[in-house]
Amino acid sequence: MPRKGQFKIRAIRTQAEWVAIEAMQKKLVDELPFVHRETRQWWIARNGDKPVGYAAMNITGDCGWFSICGVLAKHRGNGLQKRLIDVRLRHARRGGLAAVYTYTLNGNHPSANSLIKKGFKQCTPPDRHFGKWAGKRDVLYWKHEL
Ligand SMILES: CC(C)(COP(=O)(O)OP(=O)(O)OC[C@H]1O[C@@H](n2cnc3c(N)ncnc32)[C@H](O)[C@@H]1OP(=O)(O)O)[C@@H](O)C(=O)NCCC(=O)NCCS
Repeated sequence: MPRKGQFKIRAIRTQAEWVAIEAMQKKLVDELPFVHRETRQWWIARNGDKPVGYAAMNITGDCGWFSICGVLAKHRGNGLQKRLIDVRLRHARRGGLAAVYTYTLNGNHPSANSLIKKGFKQCTPPDRHFGKWAGKRDVLYWKHEL
């Protein structure tokens, strides 16, 4: 079992990091049946040299949108999702954003728990922040004011 300190997270800068994220998205496709490409800003988590997780966010106006996050099964339960939330919240604060939004599929208790622990509150989303994700059934929406 890896120790927490072994995980490093950074914003992606290279094509190789993007290829690693695409490979992880394919591995998680049964749990996350949509592969994101359009998102602007991505982070990768590594355990030593090994890619173990990823997260992404978009910015529209003064709001952020956490579009996706995944952690490979073997590395779950180490607080990595919460660190991937933190890094995006820091990015949003540095960018002067007013709030960030996200969603969880109903039944995704680990993800909902992580968001609550990091200060997100359930919300009814204004359509303009959620685009194609607005008004879905079986989805919980979350907001974190900054
Ligand atoms: C959701 C996911 C990102 C969590 O990653 P992680 O690094 O294991 O998350 P963390 O360790 O930061 O926290 C998970 C929390 O959920 C809790 N948890 C785990 N399994 C749970 C369950 N079945 N029911 C309720 N809570 C659960 C953990 O105890 C932890 O809470 P804690 O901080 O109170 O201990 C990971 O499971 C994953 O990639 N799942 C598939 C893809 C996905 O659902 N992505 C998110 C939606 S975009």
